[in-house]
Amino acid sequence: MKSMFNLESFIKINKCLFPVAGYGTRFLPVTKAIPKEMLPILTKPLIQYGVEEAMSAGMTTMAMVTSKYKQAIKNHFEPHTDIETSIKGTAKEALLDEVNYASEQCDFSYIEQQEMLGLGHAIYTGKPLIGDEPFAVILPDDLCTSNGDSILKQMAALYVQHPDCCIVAIEEVPMTEVDKYGVIDGKLLKGSTNAYQVSSMVEKPSPEEAPTNLAIIGRYILTPQIFNVLENTKQDKNGEIQITDALMTLAKQGKVIAYKFEGIRYDCGNVKGFVEATNAFAKSEGLI
Ligand code: UTP
Repeated sequence: MKSMFNLESFIKINKCLFPVAGYGTRFLPVTKAIPKEMLPILTKPLIQYGVEEAMSAGMTTMAMVTSKYKQAIKNHFEPHTDIETSIKGTAKEALLDEVNYASEQCDFSYIEQQEMLGLGHAIYTGKPLIGDEPFAVILPDDLCTSNGDSILKQMAALYVQHPDCCIVAIEEVPMTEVDKYGVIDGKLLKGSTNAYQVSSMVEKPSPEEAPTNLAIIGRYILTPQIFNVLENTKQDKNGEIQITDALMTLAKQGKVIAYKFEGIRYDCGNVKGFVEATNAFAKSEGLI
């Protein structure tokens, strides 16, 4: 008999959280008045690439954890009637589609993080926007591209097979760079070549301490259990609440999977990675 219950639609992820409250100090002075997430790769701001990736994975609610300095992000996803009126009916009208299509197809919600107490704290701040359901997290300064399905779409497909687990995206980085990342330890899942059952994770280890060179990048799928765990996660020595520490608690219960994605990640949180992304996008557009 055919099941009345469609598991896939039950565990469909509808919401994507964007923790975008950070100060972006590596990009000062530009980030004094312009949010890092509004810096463009060619003509599109990083935050829009992130939203489009979430849309490509079927998500329709974009939940932003912002700060009082980041009004430009909200403005970006709201109508700008003066621009619309001025270019409607002109040769530039086609640009409107790209400007408006995310806002027309998605709901946007916002909450302010009052103190910069780290990524874990930012994600916890987003709880009222998410509620009691699984959700994705995108850090838009990690700009991801792929030839096939987007990285978040690949992760959402894996989540369907492991609905009790959080999924973190990982990539191999040079051992000399592990101290910039959360790093996982684990074993490949049976029959898999790219998904690991995580046994432990450590935030920004020295090369000597790092269990592997598998570094967590800015894409997550989290179960709502993470909020209870974050509530009980202590601040680290720098006073920050780390998502890695909270995930470690769940990893001990066998509830974290690390996924080595297919695609390219540009670390646009630093100037070098930002320039690399700009060059790669410019090349693919035939501009250089
Ligand atoms: P980063 O450390 O990469 O971003 O945090 P940052 O703090 O903005 O940049 P720098 O280091 O000063 O140059 C990773 C992500 O977590 C968010 C950031 O906005 C970024 O998207 N974040 C970090 C918060 O939302 N709140 C925090 O308290 C910390």
